[in-house]
Amino acid sequence: MITPTTIADAQATNGKASGQPSGGINGAYGTCAFRPGLEGIPAVQSSISYVDGKQGILEYRGIPIDDLAHRGTFLETAYLLIWGQLPTTEQLESFSHDIQYHRRLKFRIRDMMKCFPESGHPMDALQASAAALGLFYSRRALLDPEYIRAAVMRIIAKIPTMVAAFQMIRKGNDPIQPRDDLGYAANFLYMLNEQKPDPIEAKIFDACLTLHAEHTINASTFSALVTASTMTDPYAVIASAVGTLAGPLHGGANEEVVSMLDEIGSVDNVKAYVDDRVSCRQKIMGFGHRVYKVKDPRACILQKMAEQLFDKLGRDRRYDIALEVEKVVEDRLGHKGIYPNVDFYSGLVYKRLGIPDDLFTPVFAIARVAGWLAHWREQLEENRIFRPTQVYTGAHQLPYIPIEERG
Ligand code: SDX
Repeated sequence: MITPTTIADAQATNGKASGQPSGGINGAYGTCAFRPGLEGIPAVQSSISYVDGKQGILEYRGIPIDDLAHRGTFLETAYLLIWGQLPTTEQLESFSHDIQYHRRLKFRIRDMMKCFPESGHPMDALQASAAALGLFYSRRALLDPEYIRAAVMRIIAKIPTMVAAFQMIRKGNDPIQPRDDLGYAANFLYMLNEQKPDPIEAKIFDACLTLHAEHTINASTFSALVTASTMTDPYAVIASAVGTLAGPLHGGANEEVVSMLDEIGSVDNVKAYVDDRVSCRQKIMGFGHRVYKVKDPRACILQKMAEQLFDKLGRDRRYDIALEVEKVVEDRLGHKGIYPNVDFYSGLVYKRLGIPDDLFTPVFAIARVAGWLAHWREQLEENRIFRPTQVYTGAHQLPYIPIEERG
């Protein structure tokens, strides 16, 4: 049953959920309004996460995001999302051990990745590599809990290794092997630079993963759900979600934000830049959200993390530009509920951690895998294939015109 609570995030869309439908159908399900982008339409019943877009609240399995980011770890959070509760010490040890065990890539996968063009975007490399896992672990036993558990471990373990491997390969180097003495976040940073990261930097990166791990029925999760609902293998589910996350309106925005700050170049240019985009009705990257009509709570935490890193490693001049952009956008578009989203400050954090710009979205994917897998499991528990309908706007009963008579 859909309760008012379960559709809270849909209702927070500035009242648009009850706004004007643009067209509709009369059919077996009564009159349905057509809502572009399925705005406000519940696609699933879920107990994984909760967003209150008016108050800026995000919870994973009922636990506030702030607590998880500051007091938990990414692996604990992934466990919580996927298996429904925080792990005990033994459960976490076993989970971490299994992930560590699965971190390495088969040499055929590494060889396959060596054939990818160096100029290709790392998100495309990740999508192809994730899909290729299905070739190597092809048994599709969706009713077997052991198969589900092994697939979860493999995917969480191997996605970061794949992202780091592509980075090394495109620089002409062999991938760096994971290090068993390093935790999940620290090991990823190590595989990127072959340098053990500073513990504070590793902790901040781990918290970034937690912040990006899950976010109700966003576009990539919806994509994962649609794919999962056909009862295909989990590698196909993750590959389709990675492809969806890559777009600039979704996860790809974090990379675009840093280019935007570079393009603006100085605090003095901010007003003109924002005004120009607003007058041309162009989107400002890292702002706006279908659900949040206030500043995204994750952006608030990421901003503090950026400041923490700047105190330690030196300020990034882009941060001053970002602060001014936030101020001017709030002034011009705050009345429409346009505020910074998760992608606005994440790039600045990743940049200070030495992560290349085009890996920002793959890093988002490393984190979001936890949410995608949680939704995959939930979908399998009560699956029905997604098969929405449409509002047909074409013609009927037209004559077939032979090719020689077509004008
Ligand atoms: C993520 O869904 C999730 O939960 C996603 C995510 C997650 O964790 O999974 O939170 C991650 O994808 C964050 C979003 C990253 N994308 C960007 O930063 C790209 C820029 N933002 C937008 O394009 C936009 O705000 C979306 C895509 C995020 C939301 O799109 P909607 O809900 O379809 O909103 P819309 O495009 O229909 O805009 C509604 C109004 C319009 O004005 P009007 O025509 O009504 O006058 O708001 C304006 C828009 O022009 N608007 C913006 C704007 N975003 C919306 N105006 C300027 N700049 C913007 N960024």
